[in-house]
Amino acid sequence: MPHATARAARALLAATALVASLLLWAAPAAAEDLSGGRLDWGVKASFRTYITGPIAQGEIQTGDGASTVDGAYRFHSASGSYEDGTAVIDYQGWVYFWGHEGELDVTFANPSVEYSGSSGTLYVYVNGSRTDMASLGGAALDVSGGTASVSGASATLTANGAAAFAGYYEAGQALDPVSFSADVVAAEAPETEEAEESPTAATEDDTVSGAVLDWGVRASWREYVSGDIADGAWATEDGAADGGAVFRFTEGAGTATATDYELSYQGTVAFTGTDVDLAVTDPVVTATAGEGVLSAEVGGERIDLVAFEAELTEADGLLIAEEVPTTLTEAAVPVFGGYYQAGDPMDPILIAVPLTADAVLPPLPDLGSDPVEASPSDTPEATAAAERTEEGANPLVWIVPAALLVVLAAAAAAVAITRRRGRTGPEAAETTVEPAAEPTPADADASAENGRGGPTAPPAAPSAEGSGNDKEK
Ligand code: HEM
Repeated sequence: MPHATARAARALLAATALVASLLLWAAPAAAEDLSGGRLDWGVKASFRTYITGPIAQGEIQTGDGASTVDGAYRFHSASGSYEDGTAVIDYQGWVYFWGHEGELDVTFANPSVEYSGSSGTLYVYVNGSRTDMASLGGAALDVSGGTASVSGASATLTANGAAAFAGYYEAGQALDPVSFSADVVAAEAPETEEAEESPTAATEDDTVSGAVLDWGVRASWREYVSGDIADGAWATEDGAADGGAVFRFTEGAGTATATDYELSYQGTVAFTGTDVDLAVTDPVVTATAGEGVLSAEVGGERIDLVAFEAELTEADGLLIAEEVPTTLTEAAVPVFGGYYQAGDPMDPILIAVPLTADAVLPPLPDLGSDPVEASPSDTPEATAAAERTEEGANPLVWIVPAALLVVLAAAAAAVAITRRRGRTGPEAAETTVEPAAEPTPADADASAENGRGGPTAPPAAPSAEGSGNDKEK
């Protein structure tokens, strides 16, 4: 019966079309953009000790927003992509090692990682040249909860990386572990942050709003809090943000001219740790004729913390002063337990006051969300389950087998019908479908679309080349 055969063929075609449409629907989305995040890497603990110790008698500096947290260097402002299981991420900031009166002079800048599964590569600009520094492994790339992260990957020096250490380390040597994270950019949130931050224009009577204040308190203080002695941490809240080497206080309002200004900001940065409990809240900067003081609420009292000299200059719709040196006031000595003296240098400040509605505030290094720390509960099964639920993950996992089952069932029906026709009459010749051949290409295409083992685009070069300018001792 030709009708039965045609029905079988139609059923098969319909099933095949269904599979094709399911596969199209289920095909992995284009690369996910990653933006904002941090990479923590201490290079090698013994190297750090050597640099500042009696042999090299040198020093270590960080710059371009990099900071030191718990001995490791924290690089910031991730940008990259996650595609076909591979994360390719660039970070910003540099760390500079100097010693032996300048014989040792090396800058590691703008690290980047390529990582898939449980292994990858760490690249670093060494004195301006991009170098594959270390092979990474032993920790799984976790893409869940809106971040892509790796916690505590082992780092093994490459032959190219070894050259950066003048032959004192050999390829294969263990470096400090690497942890990194980057936020997955939501599909439809391109400019909300800018819109939110859209500053308010100044009025004619010098009243301003929307100003920001960046201040890191003091680098050695942060190192002390996060280091082995205090073994602590800090948190920002109520309008303050952590930029790594600086904290940003926001919603600054008050009056401002170039030389005289009073700006009240919002936000708290709270340091906690062994014998450390210090919250700096709602700072105010006040200056007369360029002589200024920064005060904040500390322990329920408003205390003058640092003094500075700064005139604001007008540029690009902002009144701004950057990298303004500060010194500790007498009143703030007890705030830091007496470890620093009045007049000691504290971290520089940045004051930026928008004068026009379209003025763009200087960007804060973007550390992204707090990465999920690996814990005993983070079993591979738990991670996989989280990926499935949180990402809405890859529907191919169940759709492909289900769809193939549909095709195979239809194919089997078609074969059975065709065989029956074949046995009973010549109409069987109408059946030109070769059912058994159908599922295989679909399957292969699905794998190809899934991209397993496909080539990975090389990461873009960092926008700022490896620094090396700030070589002053
Ligand atoms: C005047 C030139 C230099 C002298 C006299 C010198 C001397 C030394 C000495 C004596 C050590 C052994 C330290 C120890 O065992 O505790 C050492 C270690 C080391 N040096 Fe130098 N060095 C020089 C230049 C450099 C340069 C240019 C680099 C490049 C980065 C470098 C990287 C290292 C490293 C990576 C170690 C091993 C540190 C460790 O992990 O213990 N050195 N150096």
